[in-house]
Amino acid sequence: MAYKKITTEDILFFQSIKGLKAVHTDLEALTRCASDETEDLHYLPEVVIEPETVEAISVIMRYCNEQLIPVTPRGAGTGLSGGALPVMGGVVLDMKRFNKIIHLDKRNLQVTVEPGMITQELQDAVKAEGLFYPPDPASKGSCFIGGNVSENSGGPRAVKYGVVKDYVLNLEMVLPSGEVIWTGANVLKNATGYNLTQLVVGSEGTLGIITKIVLRLIPAVKHDLLMLVPFRKPQQACEAVNAIFRAGFTPSALEFMERDALEWSMRYTNATGVRLPDDIAAHLLIEVDGNDMDVLYKDMESISAIVQQFDIDEILFADSHEQKQMLWTLRRKVGEAVKSNSVYKEEDTVVPRAELPELLGIIKAIGKEYGFQSVCYGHAGDGNLHVNIVKGDMSDEDWNNKLTEGIRKLFKEVIRMGGTISGEHGIGLVQKGYMDIAFDNTQLYIMKSIKKIFDPNGILNPAKIFA
Ligand code: LAC
Ligand code: ZN
Repeated sequence: MAYKKITTEDILFFQSIKGLKAVHTDLEALTRCASDETEDLHYLPEVVIEPETVEAISVIMRYCNEQLIPVTPRGAGTGLSGGALPVMGGVVLDMKRFNKIIHLDKRNLQVTVEPGMITQELQDAVKAEGLFYPPDPASKGSCFIGGNVSENSGGPRAVKYGVVKDYVLNLEMVLPSGEVIWTGANVLKNATGYNLTQLVVGSEGTLGIITKIVLRLIPAVKHDLLMLVPFRKPQQACEAVNAIFRAGFTPSALEFMERDALEWSMRYTNATGVRLPDDIAAHLLIEVDGNDMDVLYKDMESISAIVQQFDIDEILFADSHEQKQMLWTLRRKVGEAVKSNSVYKEEDTVVPRAELPELLGIIKAIGKEYGFQSVCYGHAGDGNLHVNIVKGDMSDEDWNNKLTEGIRKLFKEVIRMGGTISGEHGIGLVQKGYMDIAFDNTQLYIMKSIKKIFDPNGILNPAKIFA
């Protein structure tokens, strides 16, 4: 696709759009939108626009579609697959001014929110009204709800409460043609035509610009209990995950951390509250929640009895709000801790939960074969393991070529196990070269045809998802 380079005339046009105050071409603004949290990648856009109204977005889209100027929507830039990178230059639509709750519908337990609101702020705002929006990606303190919808994010609570798609009822979006549509209705059931809402959830900003999001909420949950269980053998930690579910429990979080993951995060956050004896190889962080404390204590007791059947050390029961916060911070900071340590690649494998022990073994075996170190952690309760491959002293040649073969081998194994190559981080830029492992030509043809219907000129977030 031959895209047009942006000219002074284009900039003057953008500046003339009613209600559009911020059109940036200075290097500082361009650099800020050149990267996200994915690896160490940088792609400079030609202009950064911060729209404030749906009408302005509509005008921008119509213009860029006619002129063949690429447009890349951007949330908070916390993504891990390069979805927000303006790979082909052009316009970055920075959605940060769309940061309000439009309507909190307490009668129906729904909220209509703009995409640029920070997820944690949304959670706090609905909590103040006794309501709960569960999806909680690790970056919830800085990521935007629009990015969460675009990537179909998960987070620790997904194991009990589901991922973002389970809460999105309806979306307003601007198409590349400039037309504004709603994808569905504000209802809990909907059997009316194709489900455009769920097609757009997780479409990584390639089908339209999301401008309003209607989410369903649930009543707030009053209490939770948290424990950290140290295992001497990592595969046993994964086996314990299955034992907990098979015994009839659904924890509100069931997170796995390899020793390195916890150790690096402890160092990164200067945490001191956790013992880490030399023979400990992995941990499970287990949370239960509900409204009846007696039930929760009983559940915790039963779950500890289950994990005692494995080779574990002393369980740490968090006995204060501060201690819970400390443990959750350790878990949430693993990704940042690994990043601060070395250049790394993040793989987001997911398998049917019972296959986790096998997956972990395969990751380590492939690492040995291809000469890479990996730090594994993630949402074991979902069968979703983040594999951080550390560059360490690997040569650039091996990092760029041999490693790709190793990752292909890993992804083929994941597919063989009935899993797939991304659970919650998306395909974006960095995983698109592996899509042929997850899908055959017929499946890819259907997906690409859908993209063409929404975006016939290919101006929206180009060079993403498909190789
Ligand atoms: C996490 C992010 C990386 O689980 O998904 O920490
Ligand atoms: Zn995660």
